[in-house]
Amino acid sequence: MNRTRVLATPAFIILALATTAVVQETPTSPPESAYVGAAACKDCHPKYYDAWSETKHARSITHLSAEDREGGQCMPCHATGTPQQIAAESANPTLPGIQCEACHGPGRAHSEAATAGAPKPGDIVKTPPEKACTRCHNQNSPHFRPFFYVALSPLVHKVK
Ligand code: HEC
Ligand code: HEC
Ligand code: HEC
Ligand code: HEC
Repeated sequence: MNRTRVLATPAFIILALATTAVVQETPTSPPESAYVGAAACKDCHPKYYDAWSETKHARSITHLSAEDREGGQCMPCHATGTPQQIAAESANPTLPGIQCEACHGPGRAHSEAATAGAPKPGDIVKTPPEKACTRCHNQNSPHFRPFFYVALSPLVHKVK
């Protein structure tokens, strides 16, 4: 079969569509990034993941217009990753919204250690402190509301 015929077969088309769907459902960072994305935490921390996924943090990117995603004004507080990664990815962040690692810090080291069966205390931030929140919850936010860490921090993923 020549190349054109292969590309036109139903099997190829289904495979191509399936691959696209998987990529969109579980976005993960490039392998060199210290950030792995919330999807990588899901299997081991399902209750935290499910609680977080119901929050506005998880959906924050959907509240920005296409225009607001451009230009680097808004994304530093509405996407996850290093400032350099977020700036480079502009309107199409690999890790959209406020994911686990926006508060807990980069999670590759912890995820790899835990996958190998040997997570160590200190390889990920256990309790993100107030300043982990106020880097976004501050008056540079065009929608700033007063922020109360003690009252709000238990709400970020309420696990029963
Ligand atoms: C392969 C399973 C696995 C993956 C993947 C994983 N974790 Fe964990 N995580 C664990 C285990 C097991 C512990 C308990 C470790 C302990 O008690 O020392 C833990 C502990 C933690 C803690 C508490 C740390 C502490 O010092 O007590 C946090 C916070 C955390 N994980 C967040 C995350 C985040 C965020 C991700 C994704 C970036 C993630 N984990 C990925 C298994 C995993
Ligand atoms: C990377 C930026 C960023 C960080 C870090 C961050 N937030 Fe937020 N937070 C946001 C944005 C953006 C929204 C608004 C989301 C929306 O409505 O689109 C928000 C909304 C909230 C809300 C309202 C959510 C709801 O579902 O009603 C609470 C509560 C909150 N943040 C608490 C915290 C706490 C506590 C921390 C730290 C432990 C924190 N945030 C860290 C950016 C951040
Ligand atoms: C907006 C910031 C924020 C986000 C996003 C966030 N967390 Fe947390 N996380 C916290 C804070 C603050 C605490 C400590 C207070 C608490 O337990 O609610 C915490 C506590 C935890 C703990 C318990 C650590 C311990 O043993 O005391 C785990 C595990 C955890 N988070 C995992 C996750 C995972 C997995 C995600 C993503 C699916 C996530 N977090 C998203 C802020 C955040
Ligand atoms: C300094 C960090 C920061 C920047 C920059 C930022 N935001 Fe936000 N944004 C937040 C936080 C935090 C919230 C949650 C409300 C609050 O407490 O400020 C939020 C909330 C929102 C909301 C939800 C509406 C609401 O009232 O909660 C929208 C929409 C939004 N931001 C759009 C934007 C747009 C558009 C830009 C760029 C022009 C932008 N943000 C820039 C941090 C930021």
